[in-house]
Amino acid sequence: MDIVEIRHLKKYFQDGSQVVKALDGIDLTIEKGKFTAIVGASGSGKTTLLNSIAGLYEPTEGTVLVDGLDLSKMDEEQLTVFRRRKIGFVFQGYNLVPELTIRENIIFPLALDDSRPDADYFSRLVQLLGLDDHLDDYPHMLSGGAQQCTAIARALITKPSIVLADEPTGSFDMKTTQNVAGLLKMTATTFHQTLVVITHNLDLAQLADRVIRLQDGKIL
Ligand SMILES: Nc1ncnc2c1ncn2[C@@H]1O[C@H](COP(=O)(O)OP(=O)(O)OP(=O)(O)O)[C@@H](O)[C@H]1O
Ligand SMILES: [Mg+2]
Repeated sequence: MDIVEIRHLKKYFQDGSQVVKALDGIDLTIEKGKFTAIVGASGSGKTTLLNSIAGLYEPTEGTVLVDGLDLSKMDEEQLTVFRRRKIGFVFQGYNLVPELTIRENIIFPLALDDSRPDADYFSRLVQLLGLDDHLDDYPHMLSGGAQQCTAIARALITKPSIVLADEPTGSFDMKTTQNVAGLLKMTATTFHQTLVVITHNLDLAQLADRVIRLQDGKIL
């Protein structure tokens, strides 16, 4: 079964008097439960593609279906709920809240939805990611790798069906990259999630079931 179905997707941006064709005719389906890596040169459209799957960008042309839902048929409020419940986002810069503990950071997306963590799932997640001894610490007390693990736990706490990560290992050394990549893959497998990861890192891309190469807004 396909969890993502993208048809003839175009996304153009107006940059002054110029039109930038960030995505220029993308047809892509992503199978449920699979790990897809997106690679390509800077400016090739990777982030635009990921943000389109998350319903953050309205297409210039074409359609994006996630879990059978046509994102263009949703209003802003429906899209917000869709993102909160279906999508787990891991950003490059982690975006942790410095004033909150690791525990509070992880459950933050649930608090937004007025719900509580499933205690078993929470313990399993923090154990898998090696965060059990850091729950009462603050982000600045942790290494970059552990902070990224916190961002992964936060993305997964809502049990999203699809996890989107934009350069999750961007600034890490090779060992941390391999650890974080392995953890992302392992949590996705454990919790039957679909994983879509943008990366420049070939070690990470090698862990994927499929690698999609973008060039000038098109799939090669
Ligand atoms: N909001 C925007 N307004 C104008 N142009 C944009 C906007 N977002 C992206 N672009 C342009 O669209 C093209 C694709 O950008 P995108 O960010 O998707 O590339 P990328 O592959 O993620 O690059 P990088 O590896 O540097 O993150 C680039 O030419 C970029 O300058
Ligand atoms: Mg990008």
